Amino acid sequence: MVPLTVLKYPNPLLKQRAHPVTRFDTELGRLAEDMLQTMYIEGGIGLAAIQVGQLRRVVVMDLRDAPGAPGTEVEEGDAELRRNPRVFVNPAIAASSGETVSEEGCLSVSDYTAEVRRAARVTLSFQTPAGEARQEEIEGLGAICIQHEIDHLDGLLFIDRLPPLKRQMVRKRLAKLARSA
Ligand code: NI
Repeated sequence: MVPLTVLKYPNPLLKQRAHPVTRFDTELGRLAEDMLQTMYIEGGIGLAAIQVGQLRRVVVMDLRDAPGAPGTEVEEGDAELRRNPRVFVNPAIAASSGETVSEEGCLSVSDYTAEVRRAARVTLSFQTPAGEARQEEIEGLGAICIQHEIDHLDGLLFIDRLPPLKRQMVRKRLAKLARSA
């Protein structure tokens, strides 16, 4: 498998809205698998298809290796056991409650993290790669991550969620970085 290229800010594609998935075929499964592998290689905990240039509402996630995530205490070198891959097709937040602020980063935004305010708990509706409809209650890191990824599907980055003044400063800094890269 060849890792997919993760688009970086300010690539204009990252501001697009992804389209709902209507075909649940082997190609969709392959995309999800390639996205997961790419995410592992890049060291992320979540990835939206739009970040690899696919305008489809597909998100992958694996919190297993993240600090504080349940199930992190596995034996070293047991790479397969450390993974808990999830694939969410057409994910949508049906309900949310509470509030939490945490430090976020993004594979599409190099060398920058910031505190972002999100709902603490969400009820997530989604489909499996086989097209089965599911609903799940998610809290903690998973809730934060899925809100971040659904934002991607709507053309939003976490920096778009910052207060206006901070957002302006960050955009300038990142644009400068992108030019000098
Ligand atoms: Ni991201």
